[in-house]
Amino acid sequence: MPCLRSRASQIFTLFFALTLLHPLCRLSSQTPKADDLLRKMTLEEKVAQLSQLPGFPIPEFREQAGNPEDVLRKYGAGSVLWVTDPKERNRLQHIAVDESRLHIPILFGLDVIHGYRTIFPSPIAMASSWDPKLVEGAQTIAARESRAAGIAWTFGPMVDIARDARWGRMEEGAGEDPYLGAAIARAQVRGFQGDLGPDRVLACANHFAGYGAADGGRDYDSSYIPEELMWNVYLAPFKAAADAGVATFMSAYMDLNDVPATGNRWLNHDVLREAWNFKGFVVSDANAVHSLIIHGYARDGQDAAQKAFTAGINMDMASGTYLKYLADEVKQSRVSMREIDDAVRPILEAKIRLGLFEHPFTDLSRMDSVLNSPEHMQASRTAAQRSMVLLRNEQNLLPLDKTGQKIKSIAVIGPMADVQNDLLGLWGAMTNPAQTVNVLQGIKNTVGNAVSVEFAHGPNLRRDIPSFFENVPMLTVKEQPKQTSEEAQRAFDEAVALAKRSDVAVLVMGEIALMSGEAASRSSLRLSSGQEELLEAVVATGKPVVLVLVNGRPVDISWASEHVPAILEAWYPGSQGGNAVADVLFGDANPAGHLPVSWPRNSGQLPLYYNHNRTQAPEDAPNFTSRYWDLSSKPLYPFGYGLSYTTFSFENLKLSRQEAKVGASLEVSVEITNTGSRAGDAVVQLYTHQRAGSASRPVRELKGFQRVSLAAGAKQAIHFTLGKDELQFWSPTKKQWVVEPEQFDVWVGEDSTAKLHAEFRLTP
Ligand code: BGC
Repeated sequence: MPCLRSRASQIFTLFFALTLLHPLCRLSSQTPKADDLLRKMTLEEKVAQLSQLPGFPIPEFREQAGNPEDVLRKYGAGSVLWVTDPKERNRLQHIAVDESRLHIPILFGLDVIHGYRTIFPSPIAMASSWDPKLVEGAQTIAARESRAAGIAWTFGPMVDIARDARWGRMEEGAGEDPYLGAAIARAQVRGFQGDLGPDRVLACANHFAGYGAADGGRDYDSSYIPEELMWNVYLAPFKAAADAGVATFMSAYMDLNDVPATGNRWLNHDVLREAWNFKGFVVSDANAVHSLIIHGYARDGQDAAQKAFTAGINMDMASGTYLKYLADEVKQSRVSMREIDDAVRPILEAKIRLGLFEHPFTDLSRMDSVLNSPEHMQASRTAAQRSMVLLRNEQNLLPLDKTGQKIKSIAVIGPMADVQNDLLGLWGAMTNPAQTVNVLQGIKNTVGNAVSVEFAHGPNLRRDIPSFFENVPMLTVKEQPKQTSEEAQRAFDEAVALAKRSDVAVLVMGEIALMSGEAASRSSLRLSSGQEELLEAVVATGKPVVLVLVNGRPVDISWASEHVPAILEAWYPGSQGGNAVADVLFGDANPAGHLPVSWPRNSGQLPLYYNHNRTQAPEDAPNFTSRYWDLSSKPLYPFGYGLSYTTFSFENLKLSRQEAKVGASLEVSVEITNTGSRAGDAVVQLYTHQRAGSASRPVRELKGFQRVSLAAGAKQAIHFTLGKDELQFWSPTKKQWVVEPEQFDVWVGEDSTAKLHAEFRLTP
């Protein structure tokens, strides 16, 4: 009997063990708790959770940490970066879940910045909509598609304030303003994360912080930002993202005030964890832990691992430095096991919250129906319509007639008219290029047979200096082929001849994707590669010309702003960009985008921003003004600017009271009327100015905005509240946040030069 009993118990034990080992059974078992896992984990397994493995070959990583797949099999991994094929993601996930000792699933991370398969307009375009609901909706769709394809973590939103259009990454953010930037950051976090259900992803606020202030607008260069500017401007959208519950942060590449952001404890600990009480985790930017050595901040890899980790970086993105050195730091007692546990815990908790332990794999049978949703494409088209900015429209040249009655022929000219991937900007990797509707197609779709449409490409766009991104296979963005001088001349002549024989010329110009984005700074903002010359020649034909800009940053259109009657900024408008451009050109959509940046006349004005302090001799003073003697210091188009096919008037600006105690709120109301003959949206903007105090304050600061739709002739009252959040600032003399008893100005209108004015006083 005893013998039999022990035999039965052996069989039971074996069966039980096999049951636990079988992946399906394991999935139905209870979700683990982070602390239970931590108790079981070896130091090496913990360090693996603090590491993001590259999903593509990086020789330097192999040298440091070995073959990523071996690491995964042996120890698991916190995350894997940039695996673009869902089947490959499932394969790697099987290694983690079936073969690694503790079966902890991988969190796959990817730059889903403005869409996964359905690409929305680039972030600067989305910010130009001044429509946080729209932005939230777009990122909800991006999250749904990502998750359906097995991506549970996106490296967005990018919330870097950018005041310098030379910096290529201006394209990826919401522009220059902390208030608008904060609103757009919150909306993106809500859209990506929601309740972190099965259709949502972890968001990642990046790049923390001050990356947009790179010296000279050169990507990766040092930023020098005084503390008051950090708090009042550069940190504001990050704080908004943290308050909205963003799960993760990414540290920036550059030196901030001589301490690299990835080794900067003030940023990643004092501000983020202590002042803001952030409970998620921080990932470094790619290779940035190792780069502490290149910066001249860390002596070697060991020092880099130690400095990044103690600065508050939980996860090393793809450099392998933590994998190689961090365990040793613990063995040498320079880092404690408790600190390691504290860094790993939020990573495990994020995986638990996402439900990855229950559902680690992608259901490939369901994926395509989610990725190819017509509703998503329609949402992208609406987003593009709502984000384009009409910069000029002399004598109401736009909207154009599409019936064939007034216009019989349209010349579509320019190197950005027939592009596919270049209509998306840099982060459109997961799209299906065939689904992108370019501007030429969009115009043809809209006018059908009613109007004849002919096309001339004109010059090819090139940057003529290699770009790393050209070699990233999944990005599929390339330069346009080099033209000989004869080919260039022929293309030029053909374009001008086409304009001459057409009733209207629509020129589509700007920047191919490689000309903006990461590592794509420019010293000049000119329409390059002969575009400006072609534009001037087409205008010289005397035909009405519409300039459509497809680009990632403001470009130099000083000449065009005086000679081209209609200019539409489309930015990189996304998968449905061509249709949406046509919707606007032909009046099926009324443009209402407004600039999230001050538009420079040329790069000599940079950095340029509306919320600057007043100098002792402002530009409009009689003498000794602060302007350049050869150029105005005012922008070509101010922050907040944008035209519509209708007009609006503002009146009856009222404050609920003229005086309020510090800490109390005031109500501001204004009436807006659509004074034109068609329905349209206005972006009502409220600016304030504090006249004196413990520090000089900007001439104006955006402190409220609303995008409102009004039928022709309709009138609406708009209300804003000015409370502590709007009136406080971080004072460099008091070294804290203050609301001061002073006199304030208020303006309301359609851009940052709004004239309608009121004032109030805060009393002690
Ligand atoms: C960029 C990040 C991005 C990362 C991973 C870096 O070069 O700065 O924005 O998330 O690559 O793709």
